[in-house]
Amino acid sequence: MSYGLEEFIADCRSVLKQDAGPAGREIVRQMLERLLHETHFLARYCSDVTPAGLRVLHDDAELGFQILVHANAKARVSPPHDHGKSWAIYGQAAGHTDMVEYERVDNGTDPARAQLRIKRTYRLNPGEAGIFQDGAIHSIDYPDKARFIRVTGTNLDSIPRIMFDMKTGKVTPMTPQRAT
Ligand SMILES: [Fe+2]
Repeated sequence: MSYGLEEFIADCRSVLKQDAGPAGREIVRQMLERLLHETHFLARYCSDVTPAGLRVLHDDAELGFQILVHANAKARVSPPHDHGKSWAIYGQAAGHTDMVEYERVDNGTDPARAQLRIKRTYRLNPGEAGIFQDGAIHSIDYPDKARFIRVTGTNLDSIPRIMFDMKTGKVTPMTPQRAT
C-alpha cells in the first residue's frame, strides 16, 4: 500500500499525541524515511520540477508541528545554529546534506559569545532522516538541487533561535527563515 502525505500527517498526529518526547520523534523520523521512499510523494512534492523555495505542507493547528519542503536551487553551507526550544527532523529527498553536530564547550554565561566543538558529522542521503532534539546545534552543507523535508516541533519562525560564528564565537539571534 502506498504511503502519502495525508497518511504521514495522520501518523504524526497520532504518535505525537501519545508521546511528543524523543521516543515519539524517533517514530516520526522512521515514518519520514518511509515517506521518502514513496515515488508518488517525491514526484508531487519534491521532484526535479518542484519550484525552488520553501513550502509549508502542514501546520498542525492542535499539536503545533510543521512539515516543510526545502527545494534548494543553489548549494549552501549554513552557519551552526539551533532550533530554539524545538526539535527538528531532516529527511533527504534528493541530493545529500552533510550534517555537523556541535556541543558548546563554554560555560554559557555570556549570551553574546560561545565556543563550539564538533561532536559528530554525517551525510544524509536520499531516503534518510536525521533528528535534532531541543536545543541541539548543527550546520548543514548541501549541493545544488538538494531537496529535503523538515518536520519541526513548532513553527521555528515564532520562537527565538541563535546562530554561531565558529571563528569569532559571536552568537547572533536568527531572523525568520534565515538558516535552516
Ligand atoms: Fe537546522
